[in-house]
Amino acid sequence: MEDLSLHILDIAENSIDADAVKVEIKIVVNEADDRFTLTISDNGKGMDAETLKMVRDPFFSTKTARKKKFGLGIPLLAQAAEECNGAFLMESDAGKGTVITAVFQNSHIDRKPLGDIGATMAVLIGGHPDIDFLLSCERDGLSYKLDTVELKKELQGVPINLPDVLKLIKEDINDALEGEF
Ligand SMILES: Nc1ncnc2c1ncn2[C@@H]1O[C@H](COP(=O)(O)OP(=O)(O)OP(=O)(O)O)[C@@H](O)[C@H]1O
Ligand SMILES: [Mg+2]
Repeated sequence: MEDLSLHILDIAENSIDADAVKVEIKIVVNEADDRFTLTISDNGKGMDAETLKMVRDPFFSTKTARKKKFGLGIPLLAQAAEECNGAFLMESDAGKGTVITAVFQNSHIDRKPLGDIGATMAVLIGGHPDIDFLLSCERDGLSYKLDTVELKKELQGVPINLPDVLKLIKEDINDALEGEF
């Protein structure tokens, strides 16, 4: 995968598969520490300790569609972070939810660009209009937030998954974040 936004799509889809109704995506760049931290948290069904141990194995998956025998979403993000002097962390509580954290050395030559995060959010929101998504991005001098709970209130009943609304969401995100992450 070329861009972190594609990893984010994959990890957020895991949350949705786990029946989450709230998914939070947080990106924080700390220039002083030269760290880029991506956190994806959900209130889905979580994983028990046994599953959590096996999940980083690319040959582990609970998906049964297409007799799927491997799952790459988590191992690929973990690898991307670790290749950049980073770290990968998973915390999960069965019945409560999951928090996935990937840390990268921000200036590392292999640190993938964030990419089209606007498109990723539009795909997630468009495909799952009933799920609450929160995107927040911070770096020195910049703070951006998109909260679909608030957005839905502002839309006053206009469906959030209308193509025109999704286009606005995508553009708003990319205008705010373009080249910043
Ligand atoms: N947020 C989550 N909540 C609960 N379980 C999760 C979560 N994320 C991952 N899992 C569990 O970890 C397994 C592996 O996830 P991973 O993304 O690596 O592969 P996958 O989703 O099974 O397949 P792929 O991502 O390649 O389509 C999943 O099948 C699921 O059982
Ligand atoms: Mg997955």
